[in-house]
Amino acid sequence: MQKNIQAIRGMNDILPESTPLWRYLEGVLQTVAASYGYQEIRMPLLESTELFKRSIGEVTDIVEKEMYTFADRNGDSLTLRPEGTAGCVRATIESGLLHNQSQRLWYQGPMFRHERPQRGRYRQFHQFGVEAFGLAGPDIDAELILMSARMLERLGLKDNAVLHLNSLGTVESRQIYREKLIHYFEQHQAQLDEDSRNRLYRNPMRILDSKNPQLRDLISRAPKMGDYLDEDSRRHLVGLLAMLDDARIPYQLDPCLVRGLDYYSKTVFEWVTDQLGAQGTLCAGGRFDTLVEHLGGKPTGAAGFAIGMERMVELLRDRRVHDVQVAPQCYLAMMGEAAQRYGIQLAETLRSRLPQLRVLMNCGDAGFKAQLKRADKSGAAIALLIGDDEVRQNRVTVKYLREERTQEQLLLEQLIERLATFVN
Ligand code: HAM
Repeated sequence: MQKNIQAIRGMNDILPESTPLWRYLEGVLQTVAASYGYQEIRMPLLESTELFKRSIGEVTDIVEKEMYTFADRNGDSLTLRPEGTAGCVRATIESGLLHNQSQRLWYQGPMFRHERPQRGRYRQFHQFGVEAFGLAGPDIDAELILMSARMLERLGLKDNAVLHLNSLGTVESRQIYREKLIHYFEQHQAQLDEDSRNRLYRNPMRILDSKNPQLRDLISRAPKMGDYLDEDSRRHLVGLLAMLDDARIPYQLDPCLVRGLDYYSKTVFEWVTDQLGAQGTLCAGGRFDTLVEHLGGKPTGAAGFAIGMERMVELLRDRRVHDVQVAPQCYLAMMGEAAQRYGIQLAETLRSRLPQLRVLMNCGDAGFKAQLKRADKSGAAIALLIGDDEVRQNRVTVKYLREERTQEQLLLEQLIERLATFVN
């Protein structure tokens, strides 16, 4: 026997039992994004490797360890997108979408990172991302955070998540802070773990993000970015906090929130839940004011966030919050060749006349009893029975599977009228 070929580790099938929940989630996120005036953009899954190196940063876990990178047949280095922001920026520059105008965009789809798979962390995962371009003030940051809060609320998840917020200042102020941090950690080098020692001169702010409990104390005493913010970033943050207060959105200022991608400046934020174990960040983002210019565009203020959809699905799974109907309303059972040919035509007619109707047609020979069993299993409310008699009389026998109701024989127009009452 041939050995089974299995899916790649960390890359999951989303089976029919789960797709209704995914579609529900996608529907809510898209509806909320549209209600804030955001439009959909679709980017390729593959981009040139250089794009991610330049935008996410060479000294980040993603670029150093996690990208799916390969040479294509021309020898060009390509990478499966580990996130959506870089591609979105590339696309908006390339298509001239930023010429003298702002843009509010959303995208959704798979992202790829070669991380160690665990609960809530996969190698192919899905993001719903939102990016706003050409808007420099704290008002757009507030809009994005309010939108993410509304998404959580619509999904019934707002009480499960806490908003963490920080400002990373401008590149210049961060440079000064960086020196202070290096100086501080140099003085305590003996306490650092290997990971942090590696990061010390290359990306010291990432040490603040360490999950090692033995470093917690050292990190809590480290210099805070807030003390080194430039005036512009400070005013921006104060403005944002005032708008969040007005909207009654609670937040926790978190000086250790640095994010794992290098393109951020000023505002960064994350919605975090304690209900998913170690991978509790549901949604994360912030400003990336230098990225457009860095990738060849004109200086353009920008901000966005991305939601980890697998994590949302896991929280939603137990709640049965979705009400997506997937079962057919009627199952078509037929006996004999003439009935079968009649039935195929009838099913097509019903689908034309009632576009919302879901008709499941029995395929393959079987007695009425077996077909009714299948009808029951399908979840259908009604079975339509067609035998030689029905064909001769041009009628269909309607059997109600979920209610005490005598079966009846109906002509086509009567049948359509009856079925219309089952279409939601
Ligand atoms: P990120 O924090 O790398 O940011 O990812 C955003 C979210 O994607 C995470 O908070 C998490 O929910 C989900 N996620 C990340 N990695 C995985 C994984 N391996 N498995 C499952 N879920 C995962 C970004 O990607 C930025 N592009 C967000 C952004 C948009 N910033 C500005 N605009």
